[in-house]
Amino acid sequence: MQDRERWSTRTAFIFAAIGSAAGLGNAWRFPYMAAQNGGGAFLIPYFIALITAGIPLIITEFAIGHKFQAGAPIAFSRIKKGWESLGWLTITASFVIITYYSVIMAWVTDYLWYSLKAAWANAPKDFFFGKVLQISSGPGELGGFSIPVIIGLILAWGAIYWCIRNGVRSVGKVVKWTVPLPVIMLGILVIRALTLPGAIDGVNFYLNPDFSKLLEPKVWASAYGQVFFTLSLATGVMIAYASYLPKKSDITNNAFITVFANCGISFLAGFAVFGTMGYMAFTKGALVSEVAGNGGIGLAFWTYPEAISLLPFGSVIFSLVFFIMLFTLGIDSAFSLIESIVAGLVDKWGWNKKKVVRLTCLVGFIISLIYATKGGLYWLDIVDKYINNFGMVAIGLFEVIAIGWLYKSSKLRSYFNPISEIKLGRWYDVMIAVITPIVLGGILIWNIVQEII
Ligand code: PHE
Repeated sequence: MQDRERWSTRTAFIFAAIGSAAGLGNAWRFPYMAAQNGGGAFLIPYFIALITAGIPLIITEFAIGHKFQAGAPIAFSRIKKGWESLGWLTITASFVIITYYSVIMAWVTDYLWYSLKAAWANAPKDFFFGKVLQISSGPGELGGFSIPVIIGLILAWGAIYWCIRNGVRSVGKVVKWTVPLPVIMLGILVIRALTLPGAIDGVNFYLNPDFSKLLEPKVWASAYGQVFFTLSLATGVMIAYASYLPKKSDITNNAFITVFANCGISFLAGFAVFGTMGYMAFTKGALVSEVAGNGGIGLAFWTYPEAISLLPFGSVIFSLVFFIMLFTLGIDSAFSLIESIVAGLVDKWGWNKKKVVRLTCLVGFIISLIYATKGGLYWLDIVDKYINNFGMVAIGLFEVIAIGWLYKSSKLRSYFNPISEIKLGRWYDVMIAVITPIVLGGILIWNIVQEII
């Protein structure tokens, strides 16, 4: 048996965990979610979701990985015989996510190139759907491939493979760059945005709370979905990463640092995006809600580029900064998903890790080609919705049941408390065994009912 790989330093681990958490989910998904779900009022369910699910779960996943020294499947089989399949579910979720996450990375890669000449000219929306995605009329019609997306995919997968090829050693080196760099770039974009005329209207739109939204269950479901996605939970990623920690490692403090850094990045991204939207509304004499309303995937690929082209100077520079930021934010989230899959397979079967990395990337690339078809966007939308609303919440629910009831949260707590700087009280046990399962169960049932009616 070979010795398990180890992070070279504590910082390498923290950076890798933040790198996985902070991704495309922070820079376009979070601002858009906030805007759609009550602006500043969204922050309330978001924080409640962090406290009742996000934070307890990330601590739990770190502790599981560290204690059982394995990727998710073997780790869960060590918690309770017969629960290995829960680990495989997390690996499946990772695989499903990476196949479409890599596609968004492919678009970002394409836009690095398009930024150089502001290729979207005066019609960024038509450019995105027509020239880049070459979209067909519905999901039933796959209608051949979009060459720009395929090229983007080859480059994105090449980059993912390159970063992860030597396991945690190469990851440790990459995240030294891919964590600070996007944060600096985000800082530049925030300053630029907030010094533009009209920015304040955008920020108002972002932060002005619409409390009536708090009565809508959909807003709460979105907040929980966002928290799972943004903290890379329920995918085995945090379990795998923590399994490479040395024996003497802090669990709770590392978890809190990861959460604060990740959520800080999301919060800042909101200022960059909405400040710029405010400026666009100002130049067009429109309302911020009119220019930002179409959000989602479009926010990064056509609304934001359009706003950037309106800048008095430096459009090329700022759109490059934006897409380099997205690329560096997303790449370490992308390869963390591969690491989770590879750790699961290697720990179970003892295969050669380098070969498994190569094979996983190859299979992932081939499957991601589905989304490079002209009907790909429809599929991406559907898969993203189901994996977030059902997959991750359900897996999270099983995880807390496994720890809270079968293994006992107090037992896990007495494992991580002595090695951690911040000691958790009994609230952790109550959270994992009672509150988190009730909340996640409720969200899941609500999502299922919504689907049926
Ligand atoms: N957390 C990443 C983001 O916000 C996405 C991700 C989800 C990465 C699940 C790994 C596991 O973009």
